[in-house]
Amino acid sequence: MQKFPGFVYNYPMLTLGVLASGRGSNFQSIIDSIESGFLKARIVALISDNADAYALERAKKHNIESIVLKPNDFPDKNTYYAHIADELEKRGVELVILAGFMRVAGKALIDRYRNKIMNIHPALLPSFPGLHGQKQAVDYGVKISGCTVHFVDEGVDTGPIIIQAAVPAYDDDTEDTLSERILKQEHKIFPYAIKLYSEGRISVEGRKAAIKGNREDSLLINPSLAAT
Ligand code: GRF
Repeated sequence: MQKFPGFVYNYPMLTLGVLASGRGSNFQSIIDSIESGFLKARIVALISDNADAYALERAKKHNIESIVLKPNDFPDKNTYYAHIADELEKRGVELVILAGFMRVAGKALIDRYRNKIMNIHPALLPSFPGLHGQKQAVDYGVKISGCTVHFVDEGVDTGPIIIQAAVPAYDDDTEDTLSERILKQEHKIFPYAIKLYSEGRISVEGRKAAIKGNREDSLLINPSLAAT
């Protein structure tokens, strides 16, 4: 292994809390990365805003505690996100993972986990933020698309960018074909970003996140990865 000065190599186990609203394939990629030993972390809770989320089944299968919290059961957004933060803190969560959590995180959560919340977005930010990033890319006619892992701030997909992967966008792509190509990269870069974090290799200054060590580590543009 290449050694970088100033890094802690015997880093401790990182405690994760995951928020997901749906299918949970990114959640699964993180579970798999932990089980394979790629990630030295544990997931102590899955919180979902949707009682029908398939992510809940995945949690059950892997003995991860799950909690369903619906915004409508709370008086307002602030109380909802304060409650989520309470649940996470109670379990000692150090890093919060938004894995297909289809809501804009509230300030009550962001303030308590500043630069400790990661989100994955299916586009090369700052292009195509918000919903349906892949469809936006197809409709616009870009030739390269991809995905981004970033820290969450108060904006919509505006926080410091940690890592991006690029894929080709072909003229005959549909939202579905492009989404599928991007998703394969999502499943690689999300666990990778968490690993960088767990090794203390991400520093944030203002709106920029930097990766210590290898300047190539924050981008995946290897054509063999993108060509699927
Ligand atoms: C992914 O495309 C992710 O980028 C976006 O929502 C989707 C969630 O997919 N934020 P999954 O639930 O992880 O399968």
